[in-house]
Amino acid sequence: MNCKVVYATMTGHSRKIAESIAERLEAVAYNVKNQDCEVMNEDLLVICAGIYGGKIKPELEAWLENLDGGQVKNALIIMSSVSHNYEQVRIKDILSEKGVTLAGEKDVQGSFLFMKFGRPNKNDINEAADYAEEIYNKLK
Ligand SMILES: Cc1cc2nc3c(=O)[nH]c(=O)nc-3n(C[C@H](O)[C@H](O)[C@H](O)COP(=O)(O)O)c2cc1C
Repeated sequence: MNCKVVYATMTGHSRKIAESIAERLEAVAYNVKNQDCEVMNEDLLVICAGIYGGKIKPELEAWLENLDGGQVKNALIIMSSVSHNYEQVRIKDILSEKGVTLAGEKDVQGSFLFMKFGRPNKNDINEAADYAEEIYNKLK
């Protein structure tokens, strides 16, 4: 099964989560801001992202807008934040416009300054990897 993990990050949580998931799924984690972050015939695309001022990073939104939906069957969204308010997050809308099936979504506890300091911790990251593996195995 073809699987790719992508992330956009400001403080490194999404990178850690993406790398842990990639290791579990024997895939590679790519930062969307890098040129090599391309999709080709993916059965599963895992997207890891934080939110800032209620929104995802503009570079991730741009990357998703440019995504060739014909190259991705299923997507799994792993979001991390302090408040878990995703009203302004457009990932699902964009994927749906492109005909990509949402295979799952998970919320990971993030932190900001003193709020929820130390999160995501090892356990949070492991839980995200467990969930990704569960979804991956269902699609196999
Ligand atoms: C500049 C900044 C703005 C943030 N704004 C929000 C926000 O509006 N709502 C929220 O729930 N979390 C907010 N957070 C918390 C992050 O979404 C959370 O820590 C996430 O895990 C960060 O992911 P990253 O380390 O991959 O950048 C903010 C964090 C930073 C650094």
